[in-house]
Amino acid sequence: MSLEDIRNKAREKLKGVCGVYKICDGDPMGRICQGQSYGRPIGIGGIGSGASFANNIKALEKIRLKMRLIGPQFEPDTSMTLFGKPITMPILGGSVSGVNSFGGENVITEKEFCRAVVIGCKAAGTIGFRGDTYTYSLDETPGLDAIHEAGGWGVKISKPREQSVMIEFFKRAEQIGCIAVGTDVEGCGSSIMAKYNKPVFRKSVEDLRELVSCTSLPFIVKGIMTVEDAIASIEAGASAIVVSNHGGRVLDHTPGTAEVLPEIVDEVKGKVTILADGGVRTGFDVLKMLALGADAVLIGRDIVRAAVGGGSDGVRIHFEYLQKILRRAMLMTDCPTLKDITPDILC
Ligand SMILES: Cc1cc2nc3c(=O)[nH]c(=O)nc-3n(C[C@H](O)[C@H](O)[C@H](O)COP(=O)(O)O)c2cc1C
Repeated sequence: MSLEDIRNKAREKLKGVCGVYKICDGDPMGRICQGQSYGRPIGIGGIGSGASFANNIKALEKIRLKMRLIGPQFEPDTSMTLFGKPITMPILGGSVSGVNSFGGENVITEKEFCRAVVIGCKAAGTIGFRGDTYTYSLDETPGLDAIHEAGGWGVKISKPREQSVMIEFFKRAEQIGCIAVGTDVEGCGSSIMAKYNKPVFRKSVEDLRELVSCTSLPFIVKGIMTVEDAIASIEAGASAIVVSNHGGRVLDHTPGTAEVLPEIVDEVKGKVTILADGGVRTGFDVLKMLALGADAVLIGRDIVRAAVGGGSDGVRIHFEYLQKILRRAMLMTDCPTLKDITPDILC
């Protein structure tokens, strides 16, 4: 199975939902996913005008890489350690959930999707995150089930639900040996969760502190777009933050994540692990996010296309491709290891 086969299959299966375009940029003028402002469900697109989704892409597009070619030959090394686990690349499977957003169970079941992400990421030597949506409950846990099947090799991100429910999710995550847990605080605006009687909330520092202390696992706060929220996450005891606007799906007219990442990095680098997502489509994008100061990145919409088009093999092949292009980008910018990737490679 080639990457092209996977994407062709995904295009067929996601008809009417996602065009599996060569460039996934959320362009409100031309992309079939961008119909939300006309009353359609959000699908796989961005909220409202689609500006936040598009801003992620534009922010990365603006960044320029400095080509540095004269020097000794080397084999770029993309390996690193995250939460004490060795991984082959600084690229992780994002906490995308809810197949209803991308065609429903006729396209792929939630269970199959979660399996594809977790098993596919593990096969590529990296880690799949799993999210949370209104079809999930303490009785229905496809993300945790997939992580369990993978011997605990995964990360559970819970929506900012009632504290007691989150604590129970995290307890189960710990029992199955998950690598880390966390919450997507940006999920607090979701109306569909409340509609299905699973209300979500803004979380205070005290709430987060309670969640951090209910588990021995590293705790991740996802949805950080400001220095203030990054500092608050550290105050709460988080081990990692994810600089994310949820792929532009929760608040219209936010900046792109690559725009806010440098100021967050300036303030908190070294105090907390910094992950980032939003518009990361290629190994070149990965290099840019790392040069801006992220320790690793997460892949969102592209894992949907990879999983729908090729299951766990599709996800593995997609990650191996990302790694291959990251290696090439590192070779061309004189970065033998991830530590060599600094703002100096930008121009
Ligand atoms: C269809 C869809 C469902 C998502 N569901 C979740 C979720 O349940 N939990 C979560 O933390 N993030 C969720 N996200 C956001 C992603 O984790 C990630 O932040 C975003 O997709 C990154 O941007 P990208 O798609 O441009 O790569 C979802 C994104 C999409 C497109």
